[in-house]
Amino acid sequence: MSETVEAIPQSRRQFLSLLTTGAITGATVGALYPVIAYFIPPSDGDGTGGIAARDRAGKDFSVTELLAKEPAGGRVLSQGLSLAAGNATYIVIDENKQVAKYGLNAVCPHLGCVVPWDTGLGKFKCPCHGSAYATDGGLLNGPSPYPMPLVKAEVKDDKVLFTPWTENDFRKTELYSNPEPWWV
Ligand code: FES
Repeated sequence: MSETVEAIPQSRRQFLSLLTTGAITGATVGALYPVIAYFIPPSDGDGTGGIAARDRAGKDFSVTELLAKEPAGGRVLSQGLSLAAGNATYIVIDENKQVAKYGLNAVCPHLGCVVPWDTGLGKFKCPCHGSAYATDGGLLNGPSPYPMPLVKAEVKDDKVLFTPWTENDFRKTELYSNPEPWWV
């Protein structure tokens, strides 16, 4: 009555073997997925590696909505490209009310506070130790030794996509004019 292994037809054995392998593989991938996903950066999905600027709730900014409510010269804090100190990144609205070709990592190069944009003063001013940065993030006042890091910004499909900035730093102030991108 009992069915021995030998008695099981070859095709049935193969089927059972495949079923077992599939179940084990599925369970393993399912268990490891959160770990694997943690190490894969968010992407816009088109293979460019760009990161879409997101609001506090994690929703992608719509450029149409952004430009409808922000003034020319505005600076909008977003979740963007993750540099060493964090991913807080300013979207820069230029004087023509367009998204500029660069964004600014908002983490102060001094000791890591997030630097607010002061519309009244027309500059970034760090609340922690007083470092100040120009509209383009150039260094105006220490104790920070560096300007705010640059990222590239591009508008695509109504989103702002950030990618790393590895080219020369175009900003020059009395305190800092080294063209080497110090954050790379
Ligand atoms: S952390 Fe910004 S000035 Fe010190």
